[in-house]
Amino acid sequence: MNSNQKKKSPFVVIASISCVLLIAILGSVYYKYNTAQSTTNEQEPIDSLPLVENSTPAESTTQSTEGTPSNDIVPKTEPVKEAEPTEQPKENEVEIVNGYIEGQQPATEPTYVNGVLIVNKKNPLPADYDKGEDPTAKAAFDKMAVAAKAEGIELVAFSGYRSYEYQTSLYDRYVAKDGKGEADRYSARPGHSEHQSGLAFDIGEKGREDLWLTSAFGETKAGQWLVNNAHKHGFILRYPKGKEEITGFMYESWHFRYLDGDLATKVYEAGVTLEEYLGLE
Ligand code: DAL
Ligand code: ZN
Repeated sequence: MNSNQKKKSPFVVIASISCVLLIAILGSVYYKYNTAQSTTNEQEPIDSLPLVENSTPAESTTQSTEGTPSNDIVPKTEPVKEAEPTEQPKENEVEIVNGYIEGQQPATEPTYVNGVLIVNKKNPLPADYDKGEDPTAKAAFDKMAVAAKAEGIELVAFSGYRSYEYQTSLYDRYVAKDGKGEADRYSARPGHSEHQSGLAFDIGEKGREDLWLTSAFGETKAGQWLVNNAHKHGFILRYPKGKEEITGFMYESWHFRYLDGDLATKVYEAGVTLEEYLGLE
């Protein structure tokens, strides 16, 4: 072996190793490139997959692209789930018994419709609504009585303001006498009487006490005078004949309600009940 041969040996070894490494690197790059190509061909990126149309909100939620594997997405061909029939919420169901809303909570505020205080079976007054007799209504009655007297009719307001407590005892007495079903036709439950507002009067004729609280009073000269003239003084016949389904109470020829301004005339001329006039039927 000569000296040249001895010097060549390390060079050949290094060159050989370099070649092997180069081939290995090139092979690795080629392999990785091919692997990447095959992955993108098999599976589309999640963002480009079509969304399911007409899906329910719950289904849409599963299609979130945030870290969701593409095979979790509902296929377009899957039948869309039909909406479950919804039950009517319990709180919307109201039972009406004798015109009253069963289980109605006690009123905390009086009800005004278009600025008019409304008191009826569906719109009670709070138990502590206790303003007493309305002085404007009382003055209007006194003026009306003077006008009636000029025509030979002596009107008497035999029942006006009633407290919640008094109405309670009155109603209970009528229920004991006639039963709830019948009493509910002519006597308001506590909180539901216009008398508690201080704006209502039961009117009769002096000397004809036998006709007070009777429908026969409506046929008398005094009763007819009221029908034709009460509105001129701010009063309406609150429970007319044939309107029990609307007002909640049977015909009361004696019960008159005071309304501010010329509203009584408007209601009278419209020929309707207060409920109808205010659109509360
Ligand atoms: N009689 C009427 C309805 C009342 O009790 O207020
Ligand atoms: Zn009355």
